[in-house]
Amino acid sequence: MMEMDKLVALCKRRGYLFQSSEIYGGLNGFWDYGPLGVELKRNVKEAWWRDMVTGHNELITSPGAPTTHQMVGLDCSIIMHPQVWKCSGHYDLFHDFMVDCRVSKKRYRHDQVRGRWVEAKGRKIFVSSQTGGEEGLKETESRALKFFNLRAKQADELSWCSDLVSLTTVADFTEVLGPDANETGTLTAPREFNLMFKTFVGALSGEEGAAFLRPETAQGIFVNFKNVCDSTRVKLPFGIAQVGKSFRNEITPRNFTFRSREFEQMEIEFFCKPSESPDWYKYWRDRRYAWYLSLGLSSSRLQLRDHHADELSHYSCGTADIEYAFPFLPPGEFGELEGIAHRGDFDLRSHMEGKLARKDGELAVELGEDGKPRHKGSGKDLRYFDDQARERFVPHVIEPSAGADRGTLAFLCEAYHEDVVEGDTRVVLKLHPRLAPVKAAILPLVNKDGMPEVAQKLYAELKGELAVQYDDGGAIGRRYRRQDEIGTPFCITVDGQTKEDSTVTLRDRDSLEQVRVPLAGVLDILRGKLKPSC
Ligand code: GLY
Repeated sequence: MMEMDKLVALCKRRGYLFQSSEIYGGLNGFWDYGPLGVELKRNVKEAWWRDMVTGHNELITSPGAPTTHQMVGLDCSIIMHPQVWKCSGHYDLFHDFMVDCRVSKKRYRHDQVRGRWVEAKGRKIFVSSQTGGEEGLKETESRALKFFNLRAKQADELSWCSDLVSLTTVADFTEVLGPDANETGTLTAPREFNLMFKTFVGALSGEEGAAFLRPETAQGIFVNFKNVCDSTRVKLPFGIAQVGKSFRNEITPRNFTFRSREFEQMEIEFFCKPSESPDWYKYWRDRRYAWYLSLGLSSSRLQLRDHHADELSHYSCGTADIEYAFPFLPPGEFGELEGIAHRGDFDLRSHMEGKLARKDGELAVELGEDGKPRHKGSGKDLRYFDDQARERFVPHVIEPSAGADRGTLAFLCEAYHEDVVEGDTRVVLKLHPRLAPVKAAILPLVNKDGMPEVAQKLYAELKGELAVQYDDGGAIGRRYRRQDEIGTPFCITVDGQTKEDSTVTLRDRDSLEQVRVPLAGVLDILRGKLKPSC
């Protein structure tokens, strides 16, 4: 697979992605989408919305679905009432453990630091590394040699006592060499670090005005559940979808846009009868997996993985991840694109009754030392009224939660190719036509003989409906390469024959095949090629 550096360079060179605030040295964990990147990400979000929400036909049973279902959308505020996060569990539980280095002043996620135990010169130490796989082995060896003041040719004096293991397996940090330290014993004990960004609303500066940037879009949906039921004609089972920014103050943002502090989510909360929830969970797992395949991710790099019980979030009674083998990960490792969680009735009940917690295996309102709910709920009745059965109950929820930036990055990684064409290497982004920022380029073969006029007319006709570019600069081969590099699936060339028989050539980016098609039929042909298949 391609090296990540090449994709990162292309993204900057052609305007897909820039580091945020780059002229001031950048801000770690924040990214800006450039002129092409914004189009690609919009296409990812629009494909999701169309395939999951507006294009969904509620009158026809979807393949594999237990029954028919409805879908509607929401767009909620980023800052919400602070009680939302207390009842959702994020206030108490949404944290990572971090360790600080007293000397380098750097902070690391406890579970992300790995290392190996090594012995030399009568001393045994734990040498940390922030990388895994082969790279981690190399890094720990060169750091151990330096620490014990040995040369490379003395590497056999190092006696390795373990494979790369997580720092979480180490109880005492006295003999731990931190990732950026020259001496052992500089790391602090692990401490909780809440991932929510705090801010202050209005003129109040103390805890009274404290609020949080949302760490997930999901809660906006739960707190509006009653509004949606009361203002629309939705009946169970139905889903509410939302696309929007979320914020998490990650301790170690990394891997390009994969782990960012500001990111965009595409979430569905799907409400159903408790008895039907296992079937709907399976339906959404399969449907969401198929969606990524339909837009070009290859099944050899995409996997559906069920969480182990100890990985489950505080609310979940079952979760599966859709994961992608990103090229920046060691071979065989996968990174999360989307989680599909069975959340039971945790959220709606927490917002009604007060924050729930598991006690003796059952969810019950968590009590403080005074015997009152630790976090009070809204007290509103958020149950669903089934007017046929004449009963009220709290629906169960299946949540497919996708990262728009992670999806966009996976589509870019999958698309990057270097092909050899007629002895030359061409860089090409083989993006699915629905996702490509530019759908077609209109190219007059030469800037004379009436060709520019015909090409401009075609451009004017297409641009009302499709994202197209007009390019008349330079040799035709170079113009094709420019379009290949940004992922334009089709090039339409107006040439000498166009005047004679009103046809143009349609070039396919991937097969490089060129066919003659009627000028008048170009728009219909493109429409057909851009039709959703999911
Ligand atoms: N709503 C689930 C998540 O943000 O991960």
